[in-house]
Amino acid sequence: MGFSGYLAAPGKRLVLLGLKLLFLVPAGVPARSGDSVLKDNITVRQGDSAVLKCNVDSKVSRVAWLNLTTILFAGNEKWSLDPRVVLVENTAVTEYSIKILNVDVHDEGPYVCSILTNKKPKSTKVHLIVQVPARITNISRDITVNEGSSVSLMCLAIGRPEANIMWKHHSPRGTHRFLTEGEHLEITGITKEQSGAYECIASNDISNPDIRTVTVTVNYPPYISKARGTGTAVGQKGVLQCEASAVPRADFEWYKEDRRLFNGLNGVRIENQGRQSLLVFFNVSEEDYGNYTCVATNNMGITNASIILYGPGAMHDVNGAAVIPGCSLWLVLSLPSFYLLQF
Ligand SMILES: *[C@@H]1O[C@H](CO)[C@@H](O)[C@H](O)[C@H]1NC(C)=O
Ligand SMILES: *[C@@H]1O[C@H](CO)[C@@H](O)[C@H](O)[C@H]1NC(C)=O
Ligand SMILES: *[C@@H]1O[C@H](CO)[C@@H](O)[C@H](O)[C@H]1NC(C)=O
Ligand SMILES: *[C@@H]1O[C@H](CO)[C@@H](O)[C@H](O)[C@H]1NC(C)=O
Ligand SMILES: *[C@@H]1O[C@H](CO)[C@@H](O)[C@H](O)[C@H]1NC(C)=O
Ligand SMILES: *[C@@H]1O[C@H](CO)[C@@H](O)[C@H](O)[C@H]1NC(C)=O
Repeated sequence: MGFSGYLAAPGKRLVLLGLKLLFLVPAGVPARSGDSVLKDNITVRQGDSAVLKCNVDSKVSRVAWLNLTTILFAGNEKWSLDPRVVLVENTAVTEYSIKILNVDVHDEGPYVCSILTNKKPKSTKVHLIVQVPARITNISRDITVNEGSSVSLMCLAIGRPEANIMWKHHSPRGTHRFLTEGEHLEITGITKEQSGAYECIASNDISNPDIRTVTVTVNYPPYISKARGTGTAVGQKGVLQCEASAVPRADFEWYKEDRRLFNGLNGVRIENQGRQSLLVFFNVSEEDYGNYTCVATNNMGITNASIILYGPGAMHDVNGAAVIPGCSLWLVLSLPSFYLLQF
């Protein structure tokens, strides 16, 4: 008598009946009464194939593979409707194994190989564990905020075992450090030093970590980091240098006293190169000496610094002091004793 005759329409209600038929030929013996061997767990990565092995011998009269709800194979007969479940072509007479192709997470769970030998039921249990490499499924978009704002970044990841999520910050100056663990990263009162790339690292030791990056741009008003003049003799080329740090990048204007200077007029050229602006005098004359102001502006604010174009003989190391915005060296330079020191 074949099993299929009793279970022509396999369904969950029939599984118990099927189990009984497979386990019990001597009627009335409970299904779980046979020897049961728990083999090691089988760990398979999602997408790979799992081979469930069952040892048999020549005395075995009936064999079947079952999962929690269904008879998958009874002898050579396939009961599972899932095309991914196949019988392994028996390499040895002593083996009755099935293969699950393209394993997915819902395949995880216990499987039973049920054997009937000399009218004695026996079963081998295996537990299939499905691993999924950590993978980031959603992450915050790159953002631009103003200095002082609060920022919250999000990074969602899947994985089995559950992915561990870590945040790492790469500052624009090239330094980097680990910040925190977890899906969310909160930054209150962000500073310009906290701009840069935020790396989300999701890992679970199944494969290499999945890493994605959010770029946080922090807008801040300009500050003048360098304001330098040169001692230049009449008839020579003179250069005043002004450098501003700002996001977005600063626009520059140059003034002499209240008069704005324009590129190409009055014998000067204005050369803007990224963070810095140069005021170039083609041919310095006596009237050019004096107090100049470099003004740096962006949509966050405005600042300025005074820079002196002075004659030859003035000390070079006083230049640096002109960095202090709004502070002038003109008075210092005009002190006769100061000049005397130079000669
Ligand atoms: C098999 O996996 C189960 C469930 O994950 C676990 O409880 C059990 O300890 C594992 N057994 C072995 C032998 O690894
Ligand atoms: C058992 O196998 C059947 C057929 O392959 C499948 O539809 C069902 O989801 C499986 N159940 C479990 C708990 O793995
Ligand atoms: C990612 O998360 C955001 C915020 O929760 C949501 O609006 C968006 O639809 C998500 N994107 C995807 C691809 O799931
Ligand atoms: C610089 O200006 C002076 C006076 O205007 C002039 O004599 C001289 O030729 C100029 N030098 C150059 C290099 O243009
Ligand atoms: C330079 O800054 C000072 C102080 O903020 C301000 O009073 C002055 O008007 C500024 N000068 C220019 C030319 O913008
Ligand atoms: C130089 O110019 C700036 C801006 O106009 C002004 O604040 C400062 O007092 C001036 N310094 C001198 C010595 O005139």
